[in-house]
Amino acid sequence: MRKIRAVIFDLDGVIVSTDKHHFQAWKRLADSLGIPFGREVNDRLRRVSRMESLEIILENSANQYSLEERRELADRKNAHYRNLLTGLSPANILPGVINVIQALKDRQVKLAIGSSSKNARAILRAVGLEDEFDAIIDGNDIPRSKPDPAVFTIAARRLGVSPQECLVVEDADAGVEAGAAAGMTVLAVGAAAGHPRAARSAENLAGISADELLMAESVSS
Ligand code: BG6
Ligand code: MG
Repeated sequence: MRKIRAVIFDLDGVIVSTDKHHFQAWKRLADSLGIPFGREVNDRLRRVSRMESLEIILENSANQYSLEERRELADRKNAHYRNLLTGLSPANILPGVINVIQALKDRQVKLAIGSSSKNARAILRAVGLEDEFDAIIDGNDIPRSKPDPAVFTIAARRLGVSPQECLVVEDADAGVEAGAAAGMTVLAVGAAAGHPRAARSAENLAGISADELLMAESVSS
């Protein structure tokens, strides 16, 4: 069995639920452009990058937008989103997170965030968790989004551990694939639970103890 010395958490959907904030920000942008946007389109945006999300929304637009215009639209959405993030508080931390973080720290396990979001630090600050991690790797640090493994391999390097010593916690299929491609053990939660490349699955972090987490046998490499 591998010895896990570090746990790398995805952020959105694992530590904090930001779905509602993304939805409201995209809705405000779509409404201002007269583009129909509802839950059905929103379901396709979950865990998709900002520019890819915009492309999906623009499928329902009668207008064509240049790359420069699309960048400006993505910036507008992000400004709405950042505004909504000011309403985040520790109450938005998902079940089990605080206990697992504390239990892992008690066991001298290193902790990192590996997120595709460029807003990761602002989110962690808003919920009061910014100082809990030994490394925070986010969308500003990585050349390509998940399923590319870069976010996780950079995190391992920053923590000074080998990929084989890392456990990744993910709620998205692309994130599970990124963790497995990095040669790490993966715990899949939420929507990704049951993914074949995950060593273990749980509904959320309340459904697994720190000891069970550290014993997750790797099937992912
Ligand atoms: C991911 C979220 O963590 O980050 C996606 O799951 C989001 O929904 C992506 O689109 C990019 O986030 P941001 O904050 O950089 O727009
Ligand atoms: Mg996620």
